[in-house]
Amino acid sequence: MSEPDKMPYPKPRARVLAMKEYHPPLGCRDALRLDFNENTLACSPAVLETLACISAGNLTRYPEREPVEAMVAAHLGLSAAQVALTNGVDEAIHVLFETFLDAGDELLLPVPTYTMYEVYASGTDARVVAVQAADDLQFPFERLLASITPRTKIIAIANPNSPSGTVATRQQIAEIARRAPHALLLVDEAYFHFHGETVKDMVGALPNLIVARTFSKAYGLAGLRVGVLAGPAELMRWVRRVLSPYSVNSLALACLPPALKDTAYLNWYVSEVLAARTEFETALDAANIRRWPSRANFVLVDIGSQHAEFVRLMHAAGVLVRDRSNDPGCNGRVRITIGTREQMRQAIVALNEALAALNLLQPSA
Ligand SMILES: Cc1ncc(COP(=O)(O)O)c(C=O)c1O
Repeated sequence: MSEPDKMPYPKPRARVLAMKEYHPPLGCRDALRLDFNENTLACSPAVLETLACISAGNLTRYPEREPVEAMVAAHLGLSAAQVALTNGVDEAIHVLFETFLDAGDELLLPVPTYTMYEVYASGTDARVVAVQAADDLQFPFERLLASITPRTKIIAIANPNSPSGTVATRQQIAEIARRAPHALLLVDEAYFHFHGETVKDMVGALPNLIVARTFSKAYGLAGLRVGVLAGPAELMRWVRRVLSPYSVNSLALACLPPALKDTAYLNWYVSEVLAARTEFETALDAANIRRWPSRANFVLVDIGSQHAEFVRLMHAAGVLVRDRSNDPGCNGRVRITIGTREQMRQAIVALNEALAALNLLQPSA
């Protein structure tokens, strides 16, 4: 890369020059995908039927977000003015940060957590204040409260959190919102369906609470890129100024109504993953591998110093898992997405073989 001073083209903003490159390992994923916490099987068949009926008219027109936005709002028990659809939760985070984070502001972030908060914050003039979780990776509630300052502008909490799978309680979230009335509290409920607990009902009642949801996980629509941001109407007005009116494409908009309607499929997929998680955790315990209790569709495990080799061996056995060693406080830890019971039985065979090859297989006493 050229030195900034010698660039033969206009120099990007200083903030952008300082941003780290982030390349999620999305290449060559033709294997059992236990690496990105996606739905590992399929979306509702009703969505596929809708896609098969997309006409040229659908594609030639610009997408109109509002009618589907109103439908999603009704599904969440909120008003249309409280809800914005986005190009995945990633865009929701990006737009929220662009809307509110100024020079001198602080983004308060319990870590380890979802990488993109820090990536998008690094493109703003705000400062990231990381609040490290203890070794048990439980939500660092007291430490977070103690880190609130008059400069705190946004507090971002993934609930359940990734990569740990641990959660903050409703009481803790309400208390944080009350203790930081000058800040926005973003609660990212990307994995809500696997946890079952939400603070969505507090939207509006707490004037600084914003909740994000995605269709990328339980609904199995990561490729369509749809997320939801829900907050008080007065706050959402400003978010809408920054958000492109066209960022959710017409295929995604066409697919949301059938996806929302097919609750039988969603419930089946979630219960399948929860049953598979229990089986997988039992296998981890039998192998004496340390794990963190998870309320999401993934489990964080401690492999230790041979983490990279473990990921390589799993890959060689056709199972993709994600090394989280570079996350703060996660050295040696690997995150494994939970799929169906059948898929996880394949993963358990690969796991035991990889652990045996690395001399890590110690049956519990
Ligand atoms: C906590 C959290 N939020 C958001 C996302 C991304 O959601 P989307 O696909 O809607 O951008 C992820 C994806 O892994 C995540 O873990």
